[in-house]
Amino acid sequence: MFSSFNTVDRIVYGFGCLEELAGEIKRLQGSRVLVITDPGVKAAGLLDAVTRVLDRAQLPFGVFAEVEPEPSIEVVAKSVAAGKAFQPSVIVGIGGGSSLDIAKATSVMLTNPGTVYDYLGMDLVPGPGVPSILIPTTAGTGSEVTSISVLGDSRDNLKKAVVSPHLTARCVMLDPQLTLGLPPQVTARSGMDALVHAIESFTGIRATVFTDTLNLQAIRMIAHNLRKAYANGDDQQARQNMLYASCMAGMAFSNTQNGLDHAIALAIGGSFHLPHGLLTAFICPWVMEYNLLAAPDKFKEIARAFGENPDGLPDMEGARLAVKAVKTLLDDLDISYKLSDYNVPIEAIPALAKATMGAARLINNNPRRPSQQDVEKVLQVNY
Ligand SMILES: [Fe+2]
Repeated sequence: MFSSFNTVDRIVYGFGCLEELAGEIKRLQGSRVLVITDPGVKAAGLLDAVTRVLDRAQLPFGVFAEVEPEPSIEVVAKSVAAGKAFQPSVIVGIGGGSSLDIAKATSVMLTNPGTVYDYLGMDLVPGPGVPSILIPTTAGTGSEVTSISVLGDSRDNLKKAVVSPHLTARCVMLDPQLTLGLPPQVTARSGMDALVHAIESFTGIRATVFTDTLNLQAIRMIAHNLRKAYANGDDQQARQNMLYASCMAGMAFSNTQNGLDHAIALAIGGSFHLPHGLLTAFICPWVMEYNLLAAPDKFKEIARAFGENPDGLPDMEGARLAVKAVKTLLDDLDISYKLSDYNVPIEAIPALAKATMGAARLINNNPRRPSQQDVEKVLQVNY
């Protein structure tokens, strides 16, 4: 029995490192650049920051800035059409998880036959895509270092995913400067998503010493910096720590997958279109509580990372301190963890539990084996 650990080839990081973008494009022998982003990034002036660097280096570029939040498969068709018209040799994705996921999907759809529908699932993409450079502007999804693109399927209102090593970026640029302008609510939600990645990957079945090391450090950094970044978006140290922690959690969960929290989040998100980071945030304490029995030692480690002291307490009591710490954090970030606060009718619970069980990729990494009845109960208890 052997395992493997995969991540991106190269991470360039530090305040202002975006200025190095042209050099990174040249390293990849890129000459024509397609920039993929969304209207929010454009409005915030961050697209201009990229195009200024490209202009200065006299690199020809095209822009696709129509990525929508929680994007559907149809958006990929549009960005691929833009790519086919421009014929890029490098793709630069800049934005939150949605823009980066569309950049990754576009990269492989420009070089492989068929449509996205042919590649929904694990390891179905035949060959490499156009080389991509990914630049996150939020600290949360970890999408810059993962080999997954999450897309909404309008045929059945479910979130689906293309998972393939060919989606992996050739270079990631972490410039905390780009995250300084994020509003507090986005900071809170995306930061919580990063925390959930670290917790699900750390407590999951497929956790290894490599992913544990990344996850535990990510949990520590988020526990000590998310409140600061939420309270004062100009806190440079907190912004930098959140961006790096989010990236480390992404490196880890790309190797383990997430767990039941993300399975429930995809199910609710498919029908009720709530932001991904908000969903994973409010589901987090429910799933931690449910999973405690399966991995008390891991949850005690999480409690310690939050500064709690489980020493001398019975196992389960010590483990429960981790749930308490996350609930306190959610209270401080003004995020309710009651399902009824999110306009989800109680009658929807059985269908949501059924849809949750469909996400085998995620459920299979969850430390406790849930039944559909278990998921229904978790949703009902926390309604
Ligand atoms: Fe997530």
